[in-house]
Amino acid sequence: MKQAHTWIPQVTQDGSFTFFSEEFGETFHSQQGARAEAFTKFVHATQLVQKAKHDRLRLLDICYGLGYNTAAALETIWQINPACQIEMYGLELDATVPRAAIEPRLIERWSLQVQAVLTAIAINHQYQQSGLTAQLIIGDARQTIQMLCQSRFQADAIFFDPFSPRRCPQLWTVEFFQQVSQCLAADGRLATYSRSASVRSAMLAAGFSIGTIPVKESHLPHEWSQGTVATFDASSLQPLSQLEQEHLQTRAAIPYRDPSLSDSAEVISARHQQEQQQSQRESTSSWRRRWGIV
Ligand SMILES: C[S@@+](CC[C@H](N)C(=O)[O-])C[C@H]1O[C@@H](n2cnc3c(N)ncnc32)[C@H](O)[C@@H]1O
Repeated sequence: MKQAHTWIPQVTQDGSFTFFSEEFGETFHSQQGARAEAFTKFVHATQLVQKAKHDRLRLLDICYGLGYNTAAALETIWQINPACQIEMYGLELDATVPRAAIEPRLIERWSLQVQAVLTAIAINHQYQQSGLTAQLIIGDARQTIQMLCQSRFQADAIFFDPFSPRRCPQLWTVEFFQQVSQCLAADGRLATYSRSASVRSAMLAAGFSIGTIPVKESHLPHEWSQGTVATFDASSLQPLSQLEQEHLQTRAAIPYRDPSLSDSAEVISARHQQEQQQSQRESTSSWRRRWGIV
């Protein structure tokens, strides 16, 4: 039986809070700002500002966590089009996370309407009122996504937010992206904070076209992108830079595999490591040297 966690809020640089997971050895958000990350890497990258003008929107929040990506999406859509009919699904393994995330100081920066949604989702795992139908499905997303696929749910925007590939490889595999791709509408967009070559090649292998989430203004050589957008329509994407394209030719671009969608992180990582060791591709350190990335 899994032990119940005590989630201790940690403040990030924009004043919003995140949690640290002992199990995965990572914080839930970027230290630069949990709330800011939700808007930049998920809401803006999936073009919800433009899509909010539609009568109806369908959202899929993979790894719901504290619910920031859903909250930022609802704030954005309701500001532009309060009449939009929204259908939202969240997938999350651990119900204690959203439950711990609704204490007043954690949600007070969201509007009262969004606070009510986050609270209902955390307590009842659902919300149905004033144009929004939301449901939180608790379980391993590798299984729960299959239920959504069977129901033929098609999302206009997917927020893809697991812990990093090194810590949680099971949610960055070709096979999981194949499942996820079945839940994305033909003109939908999936966004993630990851710019990892293994993630990008898994997305390509699953049939997506991919683009970058560009960095703003001046940046250091190692900050080449803020994440990745996946679609079925390459023309709407910001193309990868030469540096990013060459990254996809290196050993780092060997994707994670999980043929049965049920292997442990250890098994998936060991399989990946073995494939990397046998690869004749350019090493990632040589690619880094060529591009002056330290
Ligand atoms: C980086 S955090 C997500 C942060 C979240 N999007 C937010 O805005 O707060 C990753 C989340 O994935 C969940 N998770 C880990 N493994 C999972 C799995 N196999 N299926 C579904 N969720 C999982 C964790 O419990 C955690 O809440």
